[in-house]
Amino acid sequence: MRMVDLIEKKRNGQALTKEEIQFIIGKYTNDEIPDYQMSALLMAIFYEDMTDEEITNLTLAMANSGEMIDLSSIEGIKVDKHSTGGVGDTTTLILAPLVASVGAPVAKMSGRGLGYTGGTLDKLEAIPGFKVEISDEKFIEIVNKSQVAVIGQSGDLAPADKKLYALRDVTATVDSIPLIASSIMSKKIAAGANAIVLDVTTGDGAFMKSLEDAKRLAHTMVRIGDLANRQTMAVISDMSQPLGEAIGNSLEVVEAIETLKGKGPDDLVEMCYVLGSQMVVLAKKAETLEEARTQLKEALTSGKALEKFREMIINQGGDAEVIDHPEKILTAKYAVELPATTSGVVTKLVANEIGIAAMMLGAGRQTKEEAIDHAVGLKLHKKMGESVNKGESLVTIYSNTEDVEAVKELLYKNIKIGVSAKEPKLIHAIITE
Ligand code: URA
Ligand code: CA
Repeated sequence: MRMVDLIEKKRNGQALTKEEIQFIIGKYTNDEIPDYQMSALLMAIFYEDMTDEEITNLTLAMANSGEMIDLSSIEGIKVDKHSTGGVGDTTTLILAPLVASVGAPVAKMSGRGLGYTGGTLDKLEAIPGFKVEISDEKFIEIVNKSQVAVIGQSGDLAPADKKLYALRDVTATVDSIPLIASSIMSKKIAAGANAIVLDVTTGDGAFMKSLEDAKRLAHTMVRIGDLANRQTMAVISDMSQPLGEAIGNSLEVVEAIETLKGKGPDDLVEMCYVLGSQMVVLAKKAETLEEARTQLKEALTSGKALEKFREMIINQGGDAEVIDHPEKILTAKYAVELPATTSGVVTKLVANEIGIAAMMLGAGRQTKEEAIDHAVGLKLHKKMGESVNKGESLVTIYSNTEDVEAVKELLYKNIKIGVSAKEPKLIHAIITE
């Protein structure tokens, strides 16, 4: 087999066979196919697309390029959850203990953030002492004992994806549905879950700006999951404005604690019920979504979910005192208000730009090497559709530097106040096939 013939085949719009895809991924992972040939193939895939069968074969070849985590020694159906990305998305911090508290095991490997705001690991590390680097054996032991652990992705998980993603990033081939779908699903499959709940976001703050593209990506990933014997479903959720009120690592930990105390922002709570119910049903801990939601509500109001979070923090070496004393991690030096310059209704709260404002404060990374400042970020006081009086604070800016003029300017540009606006629909669709 020669790589040049396979590039030509894809360029001419033909489907690659399983053997051909395995050849490409195997050789590329071992540095036996150069980046220039792989780049050409990626661009051909970008233009010519792939069939479901090709995408599934690509996903499985990528998953098999490194370690495949075996979670079979954990009892029960292990359900993973993945979001295609958003701003202020605090759901994993809440869902992991919440879903575990009703008996569904959560053995989750998460990533760090790049760009915008921190990823789940960065947020968890805002809790003093919390460890995300844990051996596979210890990880399994913790989940068997407590039903929940959230750790960092092991270094050898889907190495083909790591290499391909870096190449896509510099060859303008990131936003290709077969490439995004195989990238995400290869990591989920290698991480060992039996079932997968996908949160495919759409809107300004998401990869998929249009609902139509989000639906296509969701259908593609659900079909791959099913073909790979992992029961998969997707929720298409709105990311035109940030989720919840907090953006920033410590702020989001505190938002998660508040939510687990039953005092979370409406949109974030609803998102957790929607995703959590799907996870509980897939784990066969409830027969219907309604039954699952009732269980989750009970876990929130009784304090059971919060106690599970405490247990999770302690198991992973963290200081669980933050649950009762959130001020321990809310240590930003300055809190600056952003007053509304006019009265009206919030008509726009542009998610990606608000994410950039949080990043400018130090809540996210612009390059892989940058350190994150856990304490800084934004707290939104008004969401889309809410009315505001002139002079009322729209946002509190938590900063460790006194000068926040550039952040204020960016926020003013991206928070629009008008006459009327509807609250955006939170869930656009549920995709099961
Ligand atoms: N997230 C991933 O893991 N891969 C992609 O290609 C896009 C988003
Ligand atoms: Ca949030």
